[in-house]
Amino acid sequence: MTVERIGVVGCGQMGGGIAQVCALAEYPVVVMEQTPDLLHRGLARIDAQLGRDVEKGKLSADQRQAAMARISGTTDLSSLSECDLVVEAVVENLDEKRRIFAALDRIVKPDAILASNTSSVCIMEIAAATERRDRVAGMHFFNPVPVMPVVEVVKTIVTSDDAIDQICAVADKLHKTVVLAKDTPGFIVNLLLVPYLLDAIRALEGGVASRDDIDTAMKLGCGLPMGPLTLADFIGLDTLLYIGDVLLNEFHQEKYAAPPLLRRMVIAGMVGRKSGKGFYEYTR
Ligand code: 3HC
Repeated sequence: MTVERIGVVGCGQMGGGIAQVCALAEYPVVVMEQTPDLLHRGLARIDAQLGRDVEKGKLSADQRQAAMARISGTTDLSSLSECDLVVEAVVENLDEKRRIFAALDRIVKPDAILASNTSSVCIMEIAAATERRDRVAGMHFFNPVPVMPVVEVVKTIVTSDDAIDQICAVADKLHKTVVLAKDTPGFIVNLLLVPYLLDAIRALEGGVASRDDIDTAMKLGCGLPMGPLTLADFIGLDTLLYIGDVLLNEFHQEKYAAPPLLRRMVIAGMVGRKSGKGFYEYTR
């Protein structure tokens, strides 16, 4: 089996980005959303993004049209039955992911591969909801998917080498560099990134420096594209808190403990760019 058709569950920021890069790499893609409205908005976001690439001369109008033509949208999971690889990119909730994987397991071909774009949920727990545990893995993209050039490929203690090889071959076609990680909390990037972001919030909370100076110091002092508070807003403070809690529950180390300010901002609905307000304000 080689991967010829890709399914994506979820057409939000991450799922839409994954569908977009797969379509640009000439894979037929079936993308599933819960409601017609969410699907319509997700597909419109992909089309708008491709339109910006046309304006910049990175893509021709024909390439944009061809990419959109390769993407078919659905609200019915069973439309993914012919996909050889399905990438799930829904909300970070173990029960929801297990429900989707159990359903996909009954729908797709026996040798199809199921991958999760999760940033923090244990892949083995998701795989255990299926009868094909050796064909379940992590395929963790980074936001914004069309721009960030790396994918973490996560192998559980039972994922087959063949499934990993197939995922790596797809990532290669998407022009993404693969890094291999074990199924341990936070994989590579979030294991290292999340304590840094939590420490930046602790520095703000502790009055070390102002919001802007913390961001400027790290951006200019370390040559980063974004300061940590801007990046926390970009990722979503709810997502950051969720990953921090997963790491804390697994490792019981203080460095993963969410600062009180973060928890309170999430309770207040100030979850960053997507809500219009986090450490900064955004016009949506
Ligand atoms: N989708 C597609 N392309 C986008 C984009 C998006 N959402 N946002 C920006 N871009 C493109 C722009 O079109 C532009 O392309 P060009 O150079 O060909 O014109 C390029 O990215 C640069 O964009 P801008 O000039 O508008 O702005 P910046 O130079 O500030 O770059 C950025 C924006 C690429 C987001 C940059 O600030 C960056 O790399 N930030 C860090 C992002 C990061 O660390 N992501 C990882 C987060 S962690 C994660 O995702 C894991 C999860 O599990 C938590």
